[in-house]
Amino acid sequence: MAGGSMQAESHVLVELRAATLAQGVSPYGLIEQAAIAVTDGQIVWIGLEADLPTRFATWPRTPLGNRLVTPALIDCHTHVVHGGNRATEFELRLKGATYEEVARAGGGIISTVTATRSASVDDLIAQALPRIDAMLAEGVSTLEIKSGYGLDRETELNMRRAARALPQHRPVRVVTSFLGAHAVPATYTTRPEAYIHEVCIPTLRAAHAEGRVDAVDGFCETIAFLPDQIRPLFDVARDLGLPVKLHAEQLSNLGGAQLAASYGALSADHIEYLDAAGVDAMAAAGTVAVILPGAFYTLRETQAPPIEALRAAGVAMALATDCNPGSAPMTSLLLAMNMGCTLFRMTPEEALRGVTAHAAQARGPHGLRQGEPRNARGSGRLGRRASG
Ligand code: NIG
Ligand code: FE
Repeated sequence: MAGGSMQAESHVLVELRAATLAQGVSPYGLIEQAAIAVTDGQIVWIGLEADLPTRFATWPRTPLGNRLVTPALIDCHTHVVHGGNRATEFELRLKGATYEEVARAGGGIISTVTATRSASVDDLIAQALPRIDAMLAEGVSTLEIKSGYGLDRETELNMRRAARALPQHRPVRVVTSFLGAHAVPATYTTRPEAYIHEVCIPTLRAAHAEGRVDAVDGFCETIAFLPDQIRPLFDVARDLGLPVKLHAEQLSNLGGAQLAASYGALSADHIEYLDAAGVDAMAAAGTVAVILPGAFYTLRETQAPPIEALRAAGVAMALATDCNPGSAPMTSLLLAMNMGCTLFRMTPEEALRGVTAHAAQARGPHGLRQGEPRNARGSGRLGRRASG
């Protein structure tokens, strides 16, 4: 949609079915025989084609052959910027090693830290682009990208720089989460609190000073950080006015989701081991449940997240790839939707809402678009996903 005047870019999409996801209208907020008026990439009107206002009568029409049009997809939890791969670990786990055993033996996240530290910003961009291309091909418009494979100041900042440069290379919006509390680096193995205070918090402040940090994330687990170790980081986030989110209850129940909810978190992610108190806390705080079936599948997890309890409590559920080299080496958000349904019995409507409206809620208000200055806010640009 580049170039030309605004008038030249105005047109009306017709002969389509629109899944507006408006609540309570019909499944998917579906409008059969719909029309969508578009100016400069923005939706200015949507409704029944028969009700199209006369002011659009002279606009050129683009028929879509009764395709389904949905909002553009949002992948609200990814680690798409990272160095190297973990094929060896995949084989180890097939032979019986657990994710925790691999991590405690210095593999897992820490081995990706080594590969990421040795990569330049340009290397990180080059390695991320094929993953981004796969996502774009499936209709993804916006990605949340985490740091967290640096665990030192320079590499954490480089990961963010790479993530924030991606919209210069591809038509994608990016929001970045600071995940300095992803794992305890080797030099701090016995002193996780010292890592939080000496490295993680100062690096968050530096990242914030360098440009917008969209959210602060952590990994709350016995192989990473305990709730009391996450709390000082979240206190700093609150002081800086930054929203938080948390990898919580993935392998065990430490009350991470409740901690996150007590800070009004955007989301608590994974949550296979979430209990009733966690569900209630998330419902009360409006914290989105980000369901990550790719990691569940890859780790051969057997405990499913409490979908029914989340549904009953009215907790918004999102779905994401968790694209990362260890627990979820996948780029397909459509597969994540399928897995959410087949593995967790989410409804197809919940799956679509989970990668659009609820993913937007988990992502937070920002979205950097191609060519935008880095303090610009994104909103409402039309993404078109057509399928038969
Ligand atoms: O979301 N759970 C922690 N972090 C990532 C895994 C990262 C990795 O294994 O490299 C996740 O699954
Ligand atoms: Fe993750």
